[in-house]
Amino acid sequence: MRNFNEDNITQAVLERLSHCADARTRQISEALVRHLHAFVKEIEPSEAEWTSAITFLTRTGQMCSDTRQEFILLSDTLGVSMLVDAINHRFAGNATETTVLGPFYVEEAQDLPLGAYISHASDGPPMIVEGSVFDTRGEPVANALIETWHADDHGFYDVQRATGKGALDMRARFHADDAGHFWYRSIVPVPYPVPNDGPVGKMLDAQGRHPYRPAHVHFKVSAPDFETIVTHVFLEGDAYLDSDVVFGVKDALIAKLETVEGATSLAGHPVTPGTARLAYRFVLPDSR
Ligand code: BEZ
Ligand code: FE
Repeated sequence: MRNFNEDNITQAVLERLSHCADARTRQISEALVRHLHAFVKEIEPSEAEWTSAITFLTRTGQMCSDTRQEFILLSDTLGVSMLVDAINHRFAGNATETTVLGPFYVEEAQDLPLGAYISHASDGPPMIVEGSVFDTRGEPVANALIETWHADDHGFYDVQRATGKGALDMRARFHADDAGHFWYRSIVPVPYPVPNDGPVGKMLDAQGRHPYRPAHVHFKVSAPDFETIVTHVFLEGDAYLDSDVVFGVKDALIAKLETVEGATSLAGHPVTPGTARLAYRFVLPDSR
């Protein structure tokens, strides 16, 4: 076949894909071609615009490194990560809602004992995080693994600092006790802009959008025989809850940052009055 034009080229490409042996590859390729051609037909780009689109994607790739994932950021800021998350976590019942993993998760965080302080290279108001892990029937999930990470009082993650992955901070792995409880000490995180010194930042600017995420703490909670939950707990009252640049906020994931009144202790550790306390109950869905 030859003599392709704007009326017949889409069908011609689709026919070329009809020999693809793998059904899933064929389905994905066909949908990609149909939607991409429809997109181009709708916007009718000039050649200069198409070149700048290709330059944008090239720069997005070039911006990626061990500690910077510009493509994840692109997917996040266009709402695609939350869409993929929603499609893959259609949990029924009372299971904890999920949200994006984000680019700052580090698999090799340190295993620490319950109650540990995790923010050694950061200042900020002290915060206690207390959680509990249950199954959908209300039974505690003993020994659940809790991976947690958050930004500092300036809105930066450890991996964004000059020391990079060498000095992990404000992140750790904990195991819940027999009652499914866990707790640790840290500092109160603040809202922060997603990295915006690259192509995605330029895109947000051009779209008239701010780059901020509301203050939150990340959690990945897992246990044998349960689905893993990747989520955040957001701090109630944050100014960016309704305009999170990555569309990650859900009402059920917002918790009030309480203040510990009076001298008290937690599992034998004295807790200074005025310390902030973030508490959340996680519910793991049964594995499918
Ligand atoms: C985060 O919460 O760590 C995050 C999520 C998406 C994009 C950038 C950061
Ligand atoms: Fe975050």
